[in-house]
Order: sequence, then C-alpha cells, then structure tokens
Amino acid sequence: MTDLYNNKLSSTYDNMYQGFIDYTLEYNFYAGICSRYRSSTILEIACGTGNLAKPFSQNFKSYTGLDVSDSMLDIAKKRYPMGTFIKGDMRSFKSTTLYDSILITGRSTSYLISDADLLNTFGVITNALETSGVFIFDFIDADRFAPFVDKNKYVTHKSEYNEKQYFRKSEWVNKKVTNINLIHWKADYYQIKQGKNVFIGNDTSTFRCFSKIEIGQLLSKKGFKILELIDRKTYAFDTYVAVCKKL
Ligand SMILES: C[S@@+](CC[C@H](N)C(=O)[O-])C[C@H]1O[C@@H](n2cnc3c(N)ncnc32)[C@H](O)[C@@H]1O
Repeated sequence: MTDLYNNKLSSTYDNMYQGFIDYTLEYNFYAGICSRYRSSTILEIACGTGNLAKPFSQNFKSYTGLDVSDSMLDIAKKRYPMGTFIKGDMRSFKSTTLYDSILITGRSTSYLISDADLLNTFGVITNALETSGVFIFDFIDADRFAPFVDKNKYVTHKSEYNEKQYFRKSEWVNKKVTNINLIHWKADYYQIKQGKNVFIGNDTSTFRCFSKIEIGQLLSKKGFKILELIDRKTYAFDTYVAVCKKL
C-alpha cells in the first residue's frame, strides 16, 4: 500500500485532506443514509484520521472506526479520544459484533486491487452486518476516471487548511489488466511557504477503479443486492456510492 498513510506523510495527509474534503458535508451525506435505513450502530472501515468519528459517536448509538494503519489511527485517537477505534485489515477482519450500517468512505475500496481482495472484504462485511443492515461504500467510476487518466498524465490538486497551503502533483498511468483498471500513481507533496514550494515527500501506489457492472457482479457473488447507486462528484474523482443489503 501507499506510504501516504504511514509516519510523516499521515499528518500531511490529514492536513491536506481537510482542504480537499468538507467532512461536515461528508458526515451529513453518510449519516443521512444511515438514518434513512434506521441504523443505530455504525462501523466505519478505513476510517483514516477519524474525521467522522465524533459526529457519528455523538448522534448514533455507537460508532467504531477500523483502519489498517497505526499512524492514521494515532491521529484519529488524538482527534477524538473518546472514540472507539480498532486496528484491522478489511480483507480479513473478524468482527465479534454485528452492526446496522457498515461504511467504507473516502474511496478506500480503491486499495482492493484484485477480485479476491474485494470478495474477501465483502465476506468480512457479510459476517459483521445485521440481517436487515446496510453496507454503504464508495468507489471510483472506471468508465469516467480511466479515460480521464489516459488523457491527463499529470494533475495538480491544491489544498488550504489552517492557513497552510499544500499541493500534490500526481503522475498516473492506467494499466488495464484484462478487464481490470489499475492506476499506477506517483504523487509529490509540497507545502507552499513564503511563496516557495517546499517538498514534503512522495508516495507511489496502485489503485483500482471499477465499473458499475463489475461491482454489481462481485457484490452478488457474496449475496449482496444494490438498493441505491448514487452518483457523487468528489474533489478529484468521479465516484459512485453504493447502498447494499444482504439478499
Ligand atoms: C483515502 S484514505 C480515506 C480515509 C477516510 N475514510 C477519509 O475519508 O478521510 C484511505 C484509508 O484506507 C485505509 N486502508 C487501506 N487499505 C486498508 C485495508 N486493507 N484495511 C483497512 N484499512 C485500509 C488506509 O490506511 C487509509 O486510512
């Protein structure tokens, strides 16, 4: 996986993404779906630095955040010390609790790069979800994003948070393997200080984007049915949010 979620870069991630994503809007969006399906116990997988932990914990009966990265969880625990956070890999985590809603936000499904990764994760979620519960996750839409990557080899994203300015310069290539869209990505991170670009670090990763059809097929292999597919533009990626239930 990418270095972005470890050590020094995790705090850069945290600062930079506060500028990319409005977490109040993010919370309202996901909390709205959970409420519509009358959920009261929430598991957020790939919770990152815990930006949704406080409002979910305060407005729902329970909230648990799970992430594989110690560095991201350390920031989450500092952000909301009263929160419940656990370390785990979404592909193999064994839950002893059942939840009404299980969320994967922030396009973290992109790190599930093989069909086996995705099927294992869906299996973990089946076991952790109440019979009438909902599984809500977002994914990058390959039908729009892959052609964008083919046309734009370099992209810059700027961010401002707490009076600090950052930018990320990304270089990416779409390497389609059979019918799977894998994006090889290299990103350089900078902070702008007194008009100068100060290099912070870089990371490389491979991530996956999905067509609606392949997501539907993989979900049905694990006994999930899509109830809603919501088209949601985000700061850099054309994204769908799927709301699913067990058959
Ligand atoms: C783009 S960040 C999103 C974080 C958060 N959801 C947000 O929107 O700010 C992706 C997160 O996925 C986590 N992650 C990646 N692979 C994972 C895995 N196999 N199991 C659990 N977490 C994972 C990373 O550690 C990171 O915190």
